[in-house]
Amino acid sequence: MHILITGARGRLGSRLLHTLAAAHHVSGYDLPELDISDWAALRAAVRAAAPQVVINAAAWTDVDGCARDPQKALLMNGYAAQNVALAAAEVGAAVVQVSTNEVFDGQGRHPCDEYAPCAPINPYGYSKWAGEQGVRQVNPRHYIVRTAWLFAHGGRNFIQAILGAARAGKPLRVVIDEVANPTFNDDLAAAIADLIETGRYGTYHLVNEGAASRYAFARYTLELAGLGAVPLEPISLAQWPRPSTPPRYAPLLNTAAAQMGIRLRPWQAAVADFLRQAGEMPATG
Ligand SMILES: NC(=O)c1ccc[n+]([C@@H]2O[C@H](COP(=O)([O-])OP(=O)(O)OC[C@H]3O[C@@H](n4cnc5c(N)ncnc54)[C@H](OP(=O)(O)O)[C@@H]3O)[C@@H](O)[C@H]2O)c1
Repeated sequence: MHILITGARGRLGSRLLHTLAAAHHVSGYDLPELDISDWAALRAAVRAAAPQVVINAAAWTDVDGCARDPQKALLMNGYAAQNVALAAAEVGAAVVQVSTNEVFDGQGRHPCDEYAPCAPINPYGYSKWAGEQGVRQVNPRHYIVRTAWLFAHGGRNFIQAILGAARAGKPLRVVIDEVANPTFNDDLAAAIADLIETGRYGTYHLVNEGAASRYAFARYTLELAGLGAVPLEPISLAQWPRPSTPPRYAPLLNTAAAQMGIRLRPWQAAVADFLRQAGEMPATG
């Protein structure tokens, strides 16, 4: 298959490029060479490549930036996502739109399945929800893939931030009342690679299994890295003011892809693997 990936230098896009290149012909684009909010340029690039599948991993992922500039968020994550789906539709390609657990309000008591009603509570979540709607409207051959709390080697990531602060002896205060699914980008990329082989278009939740608060995620990471004795203070969202309001309890439940045998391992196993690969696990025995 020929697959075109936008946002190809991002956390997920770069891993998709690597994973899919083993079995497919893959072209990757990112800023500055291709801006998905530039309809004419995007359309020309997709026409020239003539892919069978377009994966939109491009997004404005700065949630606090989105809260400060909701119009820009809507342009980048709503309108531009629709552009990608329409450009794909014009060449007869399917589209994968990557979305987020932040389309939910976080007020529930149970993990959200694929059919739970969306009710975003911040501009990032709203813009991603708008992107989902736009994609559904213009390209019936769509996979909407919602995920959460990605961690990846290189660049910004929660795990390295926690380990870095612990080693620097900085006080560690982590939110305990925000819950979702820590998800390894390697596992997500592999699951997307399986999903696009199915031809079963629809909405999917692809996350490492299980859920954790940010505090539990940090505590588990420190323990595995041999830093379990480092003090970690649990704080509430109210004690961590920021421009965006995250949903409190918005873990995703994979019920749809699981029917086709596409499941991600538990988040704890994924964190352990990530740390092992990064050389962050102390030698045992
Ligand atoms: N990271 C998470 O925890 C998380 C959680 C849930 C869902 N998601 C979703 O997962 C997807 C991938 O996220 P990620 O963490 O891989 O994001 P990322 O690391 O921020 O990568 C996004 C990439 O898209 C590029 N980009 C931004 N605006 C663009 C535009 N207008 N045209 C073309 N490229 C553009 C970015 O370039 P610049 O860096 O130059 O801006 C970046 O290379 C996104 O749809 C995101 O909403 C992420």
